[in-house]
Amino acid sequence: MPENILFVDDEENILNALERLFLDYDLRTLKAQNAKEALQLIQKEHIAVLVSDNLMPGMTGLELLSRVKEISPDTVRILMTAYANLATAIDAINKGEVFRFVVKPWDDNVLKDIVDDGVNRYRIVQTLRNADEAKLLSLAQTIELKDQYTRGHCDRVANYALLLAESLSVPRQTRLEIKHGSWLHDCGKIGVPEIILNNAEPLDENAVAIMKKHPLWGADVARQAQLSQVIVNIILYHHERYDGRGYLAGLIGENIPLEARIVAVADVYDAMTTDRPYRKGLKPEEAISILASLKGNVLDPYLVEIFAGRLTDTPSAQDKSIMKGGGEGKR
Ligand SMILES: [Fe+2]
Ligand SMILES: [Fe+2]
Repeated sequence: MPENILFVDDEENILNALERLFLDYDLRTLKAQNAKEALQLIQKEHIAVLVSDNLMPGMTGLELLSRVKEISPDTVRILMTAYANLATAIDAINKGEVFRFVVKPWDDNVLKDIVDDGVNRYRIVQTLRNADEAKLLSLAQTIELKDQYTRGHCDRVANYALLLAESLSVPRQTRLEIKHGSWLHDCGKIGVPEIILNNAEPLDENAVAIMKKHPLWGADVARQAQLSQVIVNIILYHHERYDGRGYLAGLIGENIPLEARIVAVADVYDAMTTDRPYRKGLKPEEAISILASLKGNVLDPYLVEIFAGRLTDTPSAQDKSIMKGGGEGKR
C-alpha cells in the first residue's frame, strides 16, 4: 500500500504544483491549506512524510511540525522556508524538530531527493521494528548508496567488529547486536544532504556540524524502531574517542560502551584500508601500524592490540570479502 505524503501550504497553486511533481511517485498525496486542516488529517491517517510551508496564517509550519512530532512521531517532517529564514530552519534541524528543509522557490530535483530521503527514513523505521537480517542488511546498503564512498563499508565493519568480539568472548546475543549495530552505524547519514556527503572539497564549518549529527539522527531512528540499547549505543557513540575528544558526547575511555569501542576500531580500520577518490587504501600492515599509533588517543589500546593480533596471527580467520572495496570518509 502506498504511503501518504501530506503537503501544507496556504497557496493553492503551490499545493497543485507539489502534487503534480509527485504524480509518478508510489505515494498517495494529501493536501492541506493550513496547520489546522493538516492536524485533522494527521489524526485520521498515517502520514509518512509531511512537507509544510513555514509562513502561513494561524500556526507557522515550525509550530505545526513540533505538534506533529508529539502526536505522530513516525512522520518525517520537512520544512519549506524562504531563504531569509534559513537560520531558523538550520536551528530546527539541529534541535531535531525537522528532518530537512527546502528553500523556496524550490528546485524540483532537490525537493525530490529530500522527499526520497524522507520516505526512506520512514520505511527504515517501519522495517526495523520487525526486521529480519536480510532486510536489515539491505537497508544498510540503501543508505550506503547515498554516500558513494561507503559501498560495502557497513558489512566489512560488521565482519571486523565480530572478529574482535569473538576474541573477547562477547556473548552470542551481544555479538548479534554488534553485527546489526555495525550495519546500521551510519544510518543517520540518511539525514545528511548528498551535497555534503559526496563533497570532495574540505567541508566548511556548517557542513561539518551537520555531518557530525549523523550519530544522533541514527540513534533516533534506532530508538524509534525500538532496537536494543547495544545497537543504539553503537550508532550513538561510534565517533567517540578514547581520550574524550570525539563527538557527540565526548565520553572518555571505558565510559564509552564496549560495543561502540569495538565498532570504532573496525570502522577506522576499514576507512584506512579502502580506496578514496584522493588516495589509495592502505595495505593491511600499514593500517595496523597506524592503528597502533591511535592506541589510547582515538581507540581503546587493549582492543587495538587484540584486533591487530587477530589480523596478523590468523589471516585465515578473515573473510576474503572484508579485505577489499570502498570505505567511509572519516569526517
Ligand atoms: Fe559515522
Ligand atoms: Fe563508518
